[in-house]
Amino acid sequence: EIVPTSLNVFSDEEVMLRETVQRFANDVVAPKVREMDENENMDPSIIKGLFENGLMGIETSPDQGGAGMSFTSAIIAIEELAKVDPSVSVLCDVHNTLVNTVIRKYGTEQQKDKWLPQLSESKLGSFCLSETSSGSDAFALKTRAKKDGNDWIINGSKMWITNSYEAEIFLIFANVDPSKGYKGITCFIATKDMGIKIAKKEQKLGIRASSTCTLDFDDLKIPEENIIGGEGKGYKIAIEILNEGRIGIAAQMLGLAQGAFDKSVPYTYQRKQFGAPVGTFQGMAFQFSQAAIEIEAARLLTYNAARLKEEGKDFTKEAAMAKYWASVVAQNVSGKAIEWAGGVGFTRETGIEKFWRDSKIGAIYEGTSNIQLQTIAKFIQKQYS
Ligand code: CAA
Ligand code: FAD
Repeated sequence: EIVPTSLNVFSDEEVMLRETVQRFANDVVAPKVREMDENENMDPSIIKGLFENGLMGIETSPDQGGAGMSFTSAIIAIEELAKVDPSVSVLCDVHNTLVNTVIRKYGTEQQKDKWLPQLSESKLGSFCLSETSSGSDAFALKTRAKKDGNDWIINGSKMWITNSYEAEIFLIFANVDPSKGYKGITCFIATKDMGIKIAKKEQKLGIRASSTCTLDFDDLKIPEENIIGGEGKGYKIAIEILNEGRIGIAAQMLGLAQGAFDKSVPYTYQRKQFGAPVGTFQGMAFQFSQAAIEIEAARLLTYNAARLKEEGKDFTKEAAMAKYWASVVAQNVSGKAIEWAGGVGFTRETGIEKFWRDSKIGAIYEGTSNIQLQTIAKFIQKQYS
């Protein structure tokens, strides 16, 4: 069974993509997961493999080197990768749903022709919004850009930037006119060789193979032609892309929950206590049922939000709901999965405990759970007040 849902709405192309990603995840990623987690390092062969399998320009048009597939395809890839390794999943997620999408949606034809082929074929991207003093309050960012002839000079620093240890292409949000508040925020595209410095690589609880770094920009010189979407348009670009990106994180957390469930439940039918497989005791079996319901609800929320987006309908509230709920489920189910396997679930060897460590990030990045609740609350207030 390839399509793991009762929401039977996938095209043949999407089903085939799911198969391709499952093969890649099981054959190429799975053997490296533990070592990468222990070493806090993403194996370069995995990044190369993602490019070679056409998973780094999923929605990008074939004219620009991509696969020209649906948004749901990107969501499927993120979900399937997360079943095996949430770190590889977020690498693919940030690259596709944040970096590629900004350029596809807001870039000029020349910008798309220049950047999208590189991003589809070999160069990893990062999305640089957060800073030390601006996380949830993202639009209070302090990185500044000043005009200098035909160039812009960027000074400042970014914190928590996913993929940045391996990335070559960076979207940087900087304010060109702080007197306008967040309406001065502008999106620039930069390359590593322009002089982006990695100041620190974080050591983390989970998604340890995914790099997270602080970046310093000291008089970083960027040509005028590298502004995306126009001066002052950066805040809208950032949040509109994050609205979509949150469906990607929902998919990551959905895949994670399913991955933990799939690893732990079969063991409970092998393990015998009191003369019976432990999974057959009602106290266990009912927990499996509850987890399966939670996962299915996360799946329906996630794919519903993805299809609403594809159909051009409002999806911001549904995306926030999907991300919030999938993060709750990922944490619940991966925590339970450890308990279902008993002592062995608590060891590193089975890989179940890793899903639980990895699950914590779902409630933090791309807008914390409180930010999702705040987003949903704004819609409720608008409708009922
Ligand atoms: N969709 C569209 N527009 C939105 C919006 C949304 N969800 N939320 C706010 N806006 C717009 C408003 O309409 C307003 O624009 P106008 O002035 O043009 O009307 C503007 O943004 C400011 O609105 P508010 O004053 O209500 O917003 P705020 O300043 O209080 O907070 C926010 C806005 C920074 C977007 C905040 O709600 C938020 O989402 N914070 C979380 C930031 C975040 O998600 N960061 C993720 C970084 S990337 C990442 O994390 C990647 C990764 O790990 C893998
Ligand atoms: P804070 O904003 O300081 O929040 C602290 C607590 O206060 C949270 O519980 C929060 O919910 C709560 N809180 C804050 N404001 C409110 C409010 N108004 N109402 C109620 N509660 C509130 N950023 C990028 O730009 N690019 C990336 O690639 C990226 N990758 C990341 C990868 C990792 C592993 C991590 C940890 C972070 C990453 N981030 C990235 C940053 C991430 O988006 C921020 O960490 C997140 O938005 C939260 O910001 P903060 O850490 O400053 O927490």
